[in-house]
Amino acid sequence: MDDLRQKYLDAIAAAANEAGLEELRVAAVGKKGEISLKMRELGKMSPEERQVMGPKLNALKDEINSALALKKEALADAALNERLEAEWLDVTLPGRPRPRGTVHPVSQVTEEITAIFADMGFAVAEGPQIESDWFNFDALNIPPEHPARQEHDTFFMSRAAGDDRPPHVLRTHTSPVQIRAMRAQGAPIRVIAPGRVYRCDYDQTHTPMFHQVEGLAIDRDISMANLKWVLEEFCRAFFEVEGVELRFRASHFPFTEPSAEVDIRCSWADGTLKIGEGDDWMEILGSGMVHPKVLTAGGIDPDQWQGFAFGMGIDRLAMLKYGIPDLRAFFDSDLRWLRHYGFSALDMPTLHGGLSG
Ligand code: DAH
Repeated sequence: MDDLRQKYLDAIAAAANEAGLEELRVAAVGKKGEISLKMRELGKMSPEERQVMGPKLNALKDEINSALALKKEALADAALNERLEAEWLDVTLPGRPRPRGTVHPVSQVTEEITAIFADMGFAVAEGPQIESDWFNFDALNIPPEHPARQEHDTFFMSRAAGDDRPPHVLRTHTSPVQIRAMRAQGAPIRVIAPGRVYRCDYDQTHTPMFHQVEGLAIDRDISMANLKWVLEEFCRAFFEVEGVELRFRASHFPFTEPSAEVDIRCSWADGTLKIGEGDDWMEILGSGMVHPKVLTAGGIDPDQWQGFAFGMGIDRLAMLKYGIPDLRAFFDSDLRWLRHYGFSALDMPTLHGGLSG
């Protein structure tokens, strides 16, 4: 019995893992284990022998069982320590670096404008940057002899020799998207169309490529009053200033009747622009009630439907809101400029979370 005891205690102490320990348990105290078999022999013994051997075997069984339990716990502790050691993490290491790129002010302002108009039920529409002269001009009530064609400083695409169809143009404004959206969706319709436009012009406030956003709302009884409310609501949200004041000035565009240009109240004290106060006015957009001929070109019956349109320069809005003095720098791809004026890639402009972070 002492040999048996020593044999199992040594083996348990030497067990390397839980599987080895389980084998020992089966061999010693399992159903057919050595100690269990010995206990079964008790029945064949004389009562005197049994009285001696019974308690001894029971004590041995208890001792082996508790040695097994202790060793099992020790092995589990060792395994846990090994894992803790292997999965060690230095929480004092610096966090992930901020993304190195920034969001361009034009992208930022486009997202801001989209968020504001989306909240008013406007979807985003798109059109091609290389446009037919019909969409860019004729459909917008600018016939070939109209002086507005010259004012647009248009870039013309060249045609193959012998092809005398009128050339395509780089769109000079986002207004042709009005026509495309009306033809694609019909009325009623509520869209904005942000995008690139092109004019042959270059100075502190003009670049040959720039960005506009067009707005269009057509329904049964839309009026100038709706236009005014939408634009005031937009400016208040966009400039994030409570007391934004707008001035509607009678104007002329071929594609609207009547037409209005909209100025915003501002001040230019000490060379810095402040929106919403002061005695100056700054023009920010053109607008009006969509001309019946434009509705017709869009496949919409002007006797049934009416609505408003507006167009504004996105780059100009970005310059105003974020105090950026020179438009040309927008498109120079100067990393120092981009880091200075760019926005965090992780802050998406939303109405509830704040537009400009
Ligand atoms: N397309 C005009 C431009 O490029 C801007 C504009 C004015 C758009 C009045 C409109 C509008 O939709 O109603 O200067």
